[in-house]
Amino acid sequence: MIDPCDHPPKRPLIAPSILAADFANLGDDCRAAMDAGADLLHIDIMDGHFVPNLSMGPAICASVRKACPDTFLDVHLMVTDPWAYFRPFIDSGANLVSFHIEVCESAQHAIELAGQIRELGCRPGIVINPPTDVRALMGTLDAFDLILVMSVNPGFGGQAFIPEVLEKGKWIRSQLAEHQRLEIDGGINLSTSQSAIKSGFDTLVAGSAIFNKPRIEWCSIIEQLRETQVC
Ligand code: DX5
Ligand code: ZN
Repeated sequence: MIDPCDHPPKRPLIAPSILAADFANLGDDCRAAMDAGADLLHIDIMDGHFVPNLSMGPAICASVRKACPDTFLDVHLMVTDPWAYFRPFIDSGANLVSFHIEVCESAQHAIELAGQIRELGCRPGIVINPPTDVRALMGTLDAFDLILVMSVNPGFGGQAFIPEVLEKGKWIRSQLAEHQRLEIDGGINLSTSQSAIKSGFDTLVAGSAIFNKPRIEWCSIIEQLRETQVC
């Protein structure tokens, strides 16, 4: 298994978001995305409270783990109560669990949860929504292996990219150590990936840009998403 937090990646990493996959053929879609050159899989968990949508629970994560035993699973908890849910997802095969700074009462609150996730042998990640001031993350970054900047308001796939978050990414990048990944999530496609990479993001989540296209195109899409054109 390639662990994206072990070494600084030589090229941007692509994390297909299975929210846009065909749930009736989920194992096949996950394997096909990895065979097409994806680096890890992104699993979006929604509780109908923190975001106005429901997605999947730990059983789906366990099924993905079974279908892809060697794939790094990046679980994004869009939930009001990550304290109640991080363990079931780790037990179901998550390699990284991220939660939102918006649900934490303080920096210390976030750091403590990161410690609990790490104690269970899993990597902790922290997520920030587009309207949230980047200063909310101050004092927390060292506790996390991955910082996820939302480039849409979370809840649904297929939304338009919010370019204003790129500045947030640039500042966070300047604060990170080599082992920490900077991920962006929402509206990433062939028109937006370049600006994300140029702003310092090293891990790109893409749902509809991959799964809503015919499988035969996935390999080329993934290659193009991670290309950096120097101009
Ligand atoms: C949004 C989710 C995203 C989403 C990305 O709430 O966190 O991961 O699935 O989907 P696209 O790439 O279609 O914007
Ligand atoms: Zn996500």
